[in-house]
Amino acid sequence: MQVDLHNSWSIGPVEIPSRLVLAPMAGVSVQAFRRQGRRYGAGLVCSEMVSCAGLHHGNERTLGYLRIAADEHPLAVQIFGAEPVVMAEAARMVEAAGADLVDINFGCPVRKVTKTGAGATLLENPDRACRIVSAVAEAVDVPVSVKMRRGVENGSRVCLDVGPRLVASGAATLTLHPRSAKQMYTGEADHSLTAEFVERVGVPVIASGDITSRAKAQAVLATTGAAAVMVGRAAQGNPWVLREIMGDASKPTREEVVAELILFMRETVRELGEHRATGFLKKFYSWYLGRGRFPRPFKQELVELKSFDEVEARLLAAAPGARFVLARLEEELPQGDEVTLDLPISIYGGG
Ligand SMILES: Cc1cc2nc3c(=O)[nH]c(=O)nc-3n(C[C@H](O)[C@H](O)[C@H](O)COP(=O)(O)O)c2cc1C
Repeated sequence: MQVDLHNSWSIGPVEIPSRLVLAPMAGVSVQAFRRQGRRYGAGLVCSEMVSCAGLHHGNERTLGYLRIAADEHPLAVQIFGAEPVVMAEAARMVEAAGADLVDINFGCPVRKVTKTGAGATLLENPDRACRIVSAVAEAVDVPVSVKMRRGVENGSRVCLDVGPRLVASGAATLTLHPRSAKQMYTGEADHSLTAEFVERVGVPVIASGDITSRAKAQAVLATTGAAAVMVGRAAQGNPWVLREIMGDASKPTREEVVAELILFMRETVRELGEHRATGFLKKFYSWYLGRGRFPRPFKQELVELKSFDEVEARLLAAAPGARFVLARLEEELPQGDEVTLDLPISIYGGG
């Protein structure tokens, strides 16, 4: 049975206008990425994971993650940590900042996080994981979601036992990335496990992992019973994959690619400040201009340019018509507040 990706669904009182969710990705999911995701059809977008300890200590950079633009809703802000009380406090701050959902990270496989007892390692400590979820659920009125992997060890099926317990503790929805933490991003996401998971947990499930096309999205929705699919790496520098998944397969023109990249650069410079944005944006040049869209030496040329003005000028010289597309895009964007932030670029590897 085909699921219409345009159907809305709900997490508690929060209505999600499509079956497509943009994944949280550390070092990627800046506000510009999330706003773009909403424009291209994602019904729900997520912040990258935010350290509850950083929020607890009032770390200015961590607090910067709690800035939410008017056109991002519905938005989940994801927190990670190992202490129920500190997680609950962080959740209250996330709610006060205006997030529609508090998402908890039980998926991050990176040692820097797991060695603190947070992220995927909590799948092996379900009592603590449940205490975290219930502390968070009690602390806030907005729905609480959890994003998790299948388990820590390869082949683990521990998610099938932990999932229902997290729901009993107060999780209103669960996202499953059916790889083990040990696998990191290797091998394939095993969505036959997602189907078993959906059967067990009794709440809407978001299926994450290797959703790269409309065909794959439809297949995963149809075979797992998941409420929605989540797209991560395929959307890096490529909002058009979201458009394709939603049913419009037209390829972007060079002008569209350049216009979206320049808009992304401008918004990111505003958000992160020029200094931080410089390093952050380099990977996006390859992501936008790759996929056979522009010749390889062109990307290298951009990376070597000194200022954003030079990069913009070079891009516009390569696709002069892009300035009209850009003008239209900027005109259509709702104007939020324009404070320059000096946000951190997380080095964590996510979930
Ligand atoms: C660079 C990168 C950063 C990530 N950061 C996070 C994160 O902060 N929180 C999280 O729950 N998952 C994170 N993930 C995992 C993704 O949300 C997603 O579950 C995973 O990439 C599988 O989906 P995909 O095959 O569509 O990329 C990250 C993944 C990548 C590639």
